[in-house]
Amino acid sequence: MLILWAPGGFRVTCYYYRGAYYKAFWADPPSCTVGEPRKKYLGERSFPLIIQNIHRYFLYLALFFIIILAKDVWNAFWFDGRFGIGVGTLVLLINVVLLSCYTFGCHSLRHLVGGFRDRLAGAPVRKGAYDCVSCLNRRHMLFAWCSLFSVGFSDLYIRMCSMGIWHDWRIF
Ligand code: FES
Repeated sequence: MLILWAPGGFRVTCYYYRGAYYKAFWADPPSCTVGEPRKKYLGERSFPLIIQNIHRYFLYLALFFIIILAKDVWNAFWFDGRFGIGVGTLVLLINVVLLSCYTFGCHSLRHLVGGFRDRLAGAPVRKGAYDCVSCLNRRHMLFAWCSLFSVGFSDLYIRMCSMGIWHDWRIF
């Protein structure tokens, strides 16, 4: 509960999730060929939806979380000082890979690495970084859902193991 606000805020303000829950709960936009039921589009340029722009700041927190979770994966490779792999190691590894694919495909990150420029011609490093983020961004919806489930399952797995209900199977 102490940390959930950060990844939760990142997800709730994600461009993909916004599009999904605007349509699902508010039927807005209703459809491609259906006209808007109002004269003027206010959308996210005015209060309260302008608050969604906080997403770029949640991104910084999410990147920090990736570092912490990667450190957890590293720790999961060590059993009493000896290298090994358990099911829990794989669970945490898959989780951080999926979360990284989701976070590094963020629209805000693409804007950030693109250098806030409208044209990337003449900026090869930024163009390369922009292309990498774009590559992940094309599957943003897929990574959003897969990482959401992997986070939930990782937490459940660790909780169950810590309570002694499940036992982490050591592969080697
Ligand atoms: S747009 Fe989805 S995580 Fe940033």
